[in-house]
Amino acid sequence: MSEPAAVLAGLGAHVPPRTVTNEELSRRMDTSDAWIVQRTGIRQRHWADPGVATSDLAVEAGHRALKSAGTAGPDDIGMVIVATATPDTQCPATAPDVAARLGLGTIAALDVSAGCSGFVYALATASAALVAGYAERVLVIGAETFRPFLDPADRSTAVIFGDGAGAVVLRRGTADEPGAIVSVDLGADGTLKELVGIPGNGSRHRSTDRPPDPADQYLFMHGKEVFVHAVRRMAQSSSAVLAQAGWSVGQVDHVVGHQANLRILHALAKQLGVDGERLVRHLDQVGNTSAASIPLALADAAAQGRFQAGDRLLLTAFGAGLTWGSVALTWPGIALA
Ligand code: UT7
Repeated sequence: MSEPAAVLAGLGAHVPPRTVTNEELSRRMDTSDAWIVQRTGIRQRHWADPGVATSDLAVEAGHRALKSAGTAGPDDIGMVIVATATPDTQCPATAPDVAARLGLGTIAALDVSAGCSGFVYALATASAALVAGYAERVLVIGAETFRPFLDPADRSTAVIFGDGAGAVVLRRGTADEPGAIVSVDLGADGTLKELVGIPGNGSRHRSTDRPPDPADQYLFMHGKEVFVHAVRRMAQSSSAVLAQAGWSVGQVDHVVGHQANLRILHALAKQLGVDGERLVRHLDQVGNTSAASIPLALADAAAQGRFQAGDRLLLTAFGAGLTWGSVALTWPGIALA
């Protein structure tokens, strides 16, 4: 009898309808389509309209993932995890509201805050909960609305980030089934917390007498330094998760890296010794959607028919914290809603 494991059973995605092209941004700030494409690979992103919050996107994606999983009813899901760096409110968490609006009753619901690594951290949390028997099925959603946190005067972040949500349903199964999470690697280095973040609203800021500064509500990022750590940590974590899975790099069919920057993905592929064909790329369409980036990329590649049942996938992410993490799983051959 194979070991118990979390198995991918459903997948859904949602991006807000408004598309913002590089051309549009270059009319608003000192940037250009050529700079953005050359330095990042991003061609457009989606931004939520005013009034739309992270939970609104999460509910849409969650609904689609539940449909894709063919869940019989609300009783099927035992836990909801929302990975986000842009929760609706500082307190309470976003997940209980999402669970309620999806009609899932009074089940366990929590947020995971690990920046752009949030989805991978949430998969690991869900996987542990399933293996421990706390739930039979867990809905995991990565969702972000970054637009309100982007300083319109900061071209180094305003052109990068986009809004959206992606979701998966994981069920309790066994490690030999297609769709099983085979191994997980997570890490963090808090000594590098000053490289990327949104300082406002936390107790550190509230604990001082300093008057609120609008700049504290915006995302800051030291892009060049983050770039270097991103490549190094994702490469190390990928190697660790593959070693744990007992897979060689050559056996990996698809690398789904956090969609932050095409140059980062190429550098990662080079370090791992993976050819570019096996890299999943979605950031040209949606930009960096932080915790939503991996499930959105999965949904896009699945919709294009890129994955076959039994394919071996390596997911790897990096983000604020600093945090990083990787997951090795096989593809289950699920239907998209
Ligand atoms: O998802 C969370 C983790 N985040 C990441 O992984 C992001 C990692 N970092 C990156 O992706 C890249 O560092 C960026 C895309 C953010 C920036 O690219 P870069 O090649 O590192 O550019 P840079 O910051 O070194 O800036 C190069 C030049 C600067 O001008 P000078 O000083 O050389 O004259 C910037 O002022 O490009 C300028 N610049 C821009 N020019 C046009 C910065 N942003 C822009 C812009 N348009 N939007």
